[in-house]
Amino acid sequence: MDGNGRWAKKRGLPRKFGHREGAKNFKKISRHAKALGIKYITYYAFSTENWKRPQDEVDALMDLFDKYLDQIDGFLKEEFRIRFIGDLSKFTPKLREKMRQKEELSAKYDSITMIIAANYGGRDELAHAARLAAEDVKAGLIAPEDITEDYLQKKLYTEDIPNVDLIIRPGGEQRLSNFLIWQSAYAEYYFTDTLWPDFSKNDLEKAVEVYCERNRRFGGV
Ligand code: FPP
Repeated sequence: MDGNGRWAKKRGLPRKFGHREGAKNFKKISRHAKALGIKYITYYAFSTENWKRPQDEVDALMDLFDKYLDQIDGFLKEEFRIRFIGDLSKFTPKLREKMRQKEELSAKYDSITMIIAANYGGRDELAHAARLAAEDVKAGLIAPEDITEDYLQKKLYTEDIPNVDLIIRPGGEQRLSNFLIWQSAYAEYYFTDTLWPDFSKNDLEKAVEVYCERNRRFGGV
């Protein structure tokens, strides 16, 4: 959801107003994704590196996150399954409990799974998976040669979520920024200069159309 800060700056507003607008757009785009038949949609809401931002911006993002966790109840009525990925231990007990509740209440739905990456970093996720593997070896449950791709995949935060088909990055930058680095090994990429608060339903459809025209070979011919 890149470009919130620049969206606000262009209007002479503090960055947090851009995040507020970005959060509104997250609701609109999620509903449209469901209408289009998309089964999984993941948002990079807060990265392991975002704590480096000025404290007032981090605080504003935490407040927004808290507020939207309450609003997620609307999505539950629409049968969205909600998941959170990342090192959630860094959030306050109140936020963690809200996240846990939303996951539990929505576990019965499968029309679309909405995944929110919060305090997420791809490298952090891989280091976490490596620690889990080391513990299994130490406990004598597996031997080092049992650590295969399939085994590690099951130790990721996304253990039961399919690999990524399409990465959409709005906001003009053309990089992955530590997002789902394992899961997007064979993803298609779609970059647009549109800032996230301006990213529209049409933009989502355009990205899906471009994706449908791609010829995915997964290393084959
Ligand atoms: C990137 O734009 C955006 C973020 C770091 C935060 C996105 C988070 C939200 C919209 C909060 C709510 C989230 C949910 C899931 C309810 P940027 O600040 O890097 O923008 P810039 O590149 O223009 O500076």
